[in-house]
Amino acid sequence: MTAAPRTPEPGTKLPAVGTTIFTVMSALATEHGAVNLGQGFPDFGCDPKLLDAVTAAMAAGHNQYPPMTGVPLLRERIAAKIEALYGRRYDAGTEITVTAGATQAIITAILALVRPGDEVIVLEPCYDSYVPNIELAGGVVVRVPLVPGSFRPDFGRIAAALTPRTRAILINTPHNPSGTVWTAEEMRQLEDLLAPTDVFVISDEVYEHMVYDGALHQSVARFPGLAARSLIVSSFGKTYHVTGWKVGYVAAPAVLTAEFRKVHQFNVFTVNTPMQHALAHYMADAAPYLDLPAFYQRKRDLFAEGLARTRLRLLPSEGSYFQCVDISSVSDLSEADFCQWLTREIGVAAIPLSAFYGDGFDQRVVRFCYAKRDETLRDALTRLAKL
Ligand SMILES: Cc1ncc(COP(=O)(O)O)c(C=O)c1O
Repeated sequence: MTAAPRTPEPGTKLPAVGTTIFTVMSALATEHGAVNLGQGFPDFGCDPKLLDAVTAAMAAGHNQYPPMTGVPLLRERIAAKIEALYGRRYDAGTEITVTAGATQAIITAILALVRPGDEVIVLEPCYDSYVPNIELAGGVVVRVPLVPGSFRPDFGRIAAALTPRTRAILINTPHNPSGTVWTAEEMRQLEDLLAPTDVFVISDEVYEHMVYDGALHQSVARFPGLAARSLIVSSFGKTYHVTGWKVGYVAAPAVLTAEFRKVHQFNVFTVNTPMQHALAHYMADAAPYLDLPAFYQRKRDLFAEGLARTRLRLLPSEGSYFQCVDISSVSDLSEADFCQWLTREIGVAAIPLSAFYGDGFDQRVVRFCYAKRDETLRDALTRLAKL
């Protein structure tokens, strides 16, 4: 007699991973008809010219596998943009790779570099994929907090975390969730700190075009000592309001790109062809990304002016599309309970910062996303006015 069909117990490679806070808060927002300022994506469309370019690319027959490293014209345009903005020339053939968004770029970079037992420094609070990615590579996660309250890098603590086993550090500016933007001086401090080491930098720059008040994005590409040891990750999803397209890229010196591509070709191989052609076409005009700071700074200001009339205390949003607020003068609840309460009772969803820390550190700060239509932001502000 054959045994009854049975699914073997898989165990888990990621015991700490469950349903993310973003999924939980979005579901709660839908259930309660709340304005969803939780998850970070625009509720408005992209430039119709970009959509036309996709249709044109499909009609022109760009529907089969592109080159593994990305459509050549797109790689050229990416290299030209980086050179124009940050002054470093990456070779489109050997130093730029098109990826399925930043998320795939980051895990691919980690799998390419991190060997079992290698230590990787993350600066908390951090984007939620970094830690599981390091764990999947068999690496050891070394968590270093950004300074609570200001979210600036603490170079004393980063220096103390460096050991002979440190393989890489992940940095993210403009920063999700805090909205801080690293200064040139901070980048130079990192450059000096790493100079005597063999530590690699994975630099998550997906919000590179969202920096406000006349400040400049300090890409690692601007700092030769950092650029030589860095993989830069960016994403068209953020820049062109198409987060669902999942197209991004990695720029890195040729030896690092060669290792990156070895993994890339076997975990994604290629990225969808018509979108790449459309993005290459659209990138010929720099205006859409050069105009982005003004576009989002206006939304930031609209939202911040309304919030300033509540008892929430605003933290600076220097870049990204996130606004953090201190809730302590409004409520005694924990961040997570406050977000649930806010969604249910006030009708606005936010994300607790504790979700971005491994130990759930609670500093009474929550994050709103202002990448929303003005009427969405006004609706949220009308509701938040009760606070
Ligand atoms: C800091 C950071 N890195 C990476 C990503 C992922 O980007 P993509 O959608 O291109 O995978 C996000 C998206 O929210 C992010 O905030």
